[in-house]
Amino acid sequence: MKLIPNFVVLEGGDGSGTTSQISLLKDHFEKIPNPAFFPTFEPTDGQIGRLIRAALKKEIFLKPDTMAMLFTADRNEHLYSQNGIIERCTRGELVVCDRYVLSSLVYQGIECGDEVPLALNSRFPAPELLLYFDLEPAIAFERLKSRQSHEIYEYPEFQAKVREKYLALLGIYRESGARIEVIDASKTQQEVFSRVWSALSKMPIFKQ
Ligand code: TMP
Repeated sequence: MKLIPNFVVLEGGDGSGTTSQISLLKDHFEKIPNPAFFPTFEPTDGQIGRLIRAALKKEIFLKPDTMAMLFTADRNEHLYSQNGIIERCTRGELVVCDRYVLSSLVYQGIECGDEVPLALNSRFPAPELLLYFDLEPAIAFERLKSRQSHEIYEYPEFQAKVREKYLALLGIYRESGARIEVIDASKTQQEVFSRVWSALSKMPIFKQ
């Protein structure tokens, strides 16, 4: 499997804090001239991503394998379109993405069985660095409780399966040479940020 240098992915169950860490990274990179930093997320805010969000919010109803295909189509655009992940990483930007292939293998694997998401995602390259935010589903759910409404995967039984599956699948990138680190997401935001920063700052892009 090919690997994309300068590409970092944050993964974890719902409520594990990946999105907050992207915000902290944005603030941090405002104070640093180099490298150029591009934060992003999946599902994206493109046309396909918006369709996925509507299904996540239960505004439309789609079959689980249709969801698997949509996540893959969204990812394909995200990676390969003009100014997409590949282009940016190739020209020396540091791209940090909230969720990527592993989210599909975990969430759609639970919904459709492993075969469908594995086949759909086998074409996508690995990130240089993958940070998995590990959190007890009970703690994650406490954090999610304050939200007004819950998306289709945000219920405790599903999230327990999500954690199990993440831990089982973390090794999947090992062959590609990707660096994989597990972060204890039960710590405070600042403590988690220190871990994220320490992992990121070891990347060759910071030594150029
Ligand atoms: P978010 O909470 O990080 O915005 O992600 C939205 C939801 O979409 C979250 O429950 C995880 C789910 N998801 C998948 O099921 N498959 C995927 O490939 C991706 C990227 C997200």
